Amino acid sequence: MNKFIKQLSHIFEDTFEQCGYDRSYGTVTVSNRPDLCQFQCNGALPAAKKFKQSPIEIANKVLEALKDNPIFKSITTAGPGFINIILEDEYLVNYINELSKENKYGCADLLEPKTIMVDYGGANVAKPLHVGHLRSAIIGESIKRISRFLGHNVIGDVHLGDWGLQMGMVVSEVKRRQPDLPYFDENYTGEYPTKAPFTINELEEIYPAASGLAKTDPAAMEEARKATAELQKGRKGYMALWKHILDVSVADLRTNYGNLNVEFDLWKGESDCQQHIDYIVDYLKENNYTTESDGALIVEVAEETDTYNVPPFIVLKSDGASLYSTTDLTTIWERVKDYNPDRIIYVVDKRQQLHFEQVFRCAKKSKIANDDLSLEFLGFGTMNGKDGKPFKTREGGVMRLQDLIQIIKDNVRDKLRDNSGFTPEETEEIARKVGLSALKYGDLSNQVTKDYVFDIDRFSSFEGNTGPYILYTVVRIKSILRKANEEGLSASKIIGAYSDTERDLLLTISKFNEVIEGSYLDKAPNRICEYVYELSNLFNKFYHETKILSEENIGKKSSWIGLITLTKDILETCLDLLGIETPERM
Ligand code: ARG
Repeated sequence: MNKFIKQLSHIFEDTFEQCGYDRSYGTVTVSNRPDLCQFQCNGALPAAKKFKQSPIEIANKVLEALKDNPIFKSITTAGPGFINIILEDEYLVNYINELSKENKYGCADLLEPKTIMVDYGGANVAKPLHVGHLRSAIIGESIKRISRFLGHNVIGDVHLGDWGLQMGMVVSEVKRRQPDLPYFDENYTGEYPTKAPFTINELEEIYPAASGLAKTDPAAMEEARKATAELQKGRKGYMALWKHILDVSVADLRTNYGNLNVEFDLWKGESDCQQHIDYIVDYLKENNYTTESDGALIVEVAEETDTYNVPPFIVLKSDGASLYSTTDLTTIWERVKDYNPDRIIYVVDKRQQLHFEQVFRCAKKSKIANDDLSLEFLGFGTMNGKDGKPFKTREGGVMRLQDLIQIIKDNVRDKLRDNSGFTPEETEEIARKVGLSALKYGDLSNQVTKDYVFDIDRFSSFEGNTGPYILYTVVRIKSILRKANEEGLSASKIIGAYSDTERDLLLTISKFNEVIEGSYLDKAPNRICEYVYELSNLFNKFYHETKILSEENIGKKSSWIGLITLTKDILETCLDLLGIETPERM
């Protein structure tokens, strides 16, 4: 809740009570007629029903009790019994000055911090990181940062796809190419040598080759299946090769995620829980949660109230192999054991919704997850191209993430060109930050669940609701502050609101905590985007209306420097929660 409005509400609640009505009628809200007033309280209308008096009579009583309160510039009744409120600037200004001293700008300290695991990223080892994983990384990182900012104990886990059929495919493809490697010897007992038999570039080419072949050649597919099964049984040579694949791939993933400014606390993957799968299968069987169906081991998870078909959770296939679902279930068990989280949030493509529904139900039914553990699926929509179909390269292939970053960086760099005075290194660094802002903001400004069109020109524009526009606003403030600093001028307390725009700016700043807490509760980083856009627009309006640096009244000027410093700090805090860095200049 907006802390500032809460303060105001308190005053009205007390007054309603004093006048003989319930406190609950004192709720104050932002005015829906900003042309008439800043805030309003409509409690007299419902109070009238309960107390069988006319609303205007009640409103007038409340008004009478408040009329000497110095915080109101004007307080009047309107219509049938609304109370319209305009505050003295001093009250708002004092509030903002207090808020500016807090490092969380009005966000409440948590009484009960939660342990929250965020499962995001989800890249698949040996396959190139593609734009499909981009959304998970960007959204998950923001969810993690928002939760952590509010004081929760947050653990981000990349949960790599490092244990599926793709591993068997790579193993059999390497065997075709380098049959003499010692790893293919059935009796391989050697250790895991340090030098990988392929580079990342080779590895990235090996998987598509293998999967292409498997699609047309059933024998190759069979081989990949067999290799996967043997790997999963722990065949030594294959395990050694698998570790190579993992090492080479993870080193590359670390660089890629690092470039995106996405940081995981845990680099775990599907393989990590494999050692516990037998235990979980036995547990499910012994406690009679499982049944057999066509040779497969399943857990029924459909519920009477279902409005759509929820198929059984498959624990083991008829050939005894475990699946993605088994891994996710076992991972929950492992997470509970190792971290005892209150919540696990999965940031995954919304097309996996049913899978997670089954996993969550099975975890709850089998008590692997107790009632207190909240399992949450945050499914995101698809990033489409301008043709409305999932975003592809011009050739129709899947766009690799590093190529996408390069493209957007080049696009932004072209726009920076007229801005001479940067060294090539500076230009590169600025283009990186601005490019990433375009990419991330373009994504996060949409509702998570919605599909969106990736429009590079729109996203990288310096005008409109874009990352670069917000960065440009911050950079503009930084530039004013540098000049003020050169003049020896520093930020003072804010001493007043000299224009409507300035007042609006203060009011918008006062909403910070409400925005951040709301975006946390709804897992909605797009709220923060809306807010930074509103704040940026207001600042720019203020900037165009106000000659800050040429102001002669030093008191006023220092107050403005204080106001824009706070505006910048709040914008940068919000951007950081979105995972976006700001340059000093651009
Ligand atoms: N690797 C998976 C994919 O590419 C995403 C993993 C999501 N997380 C999970 N716990 N299943 O689709």
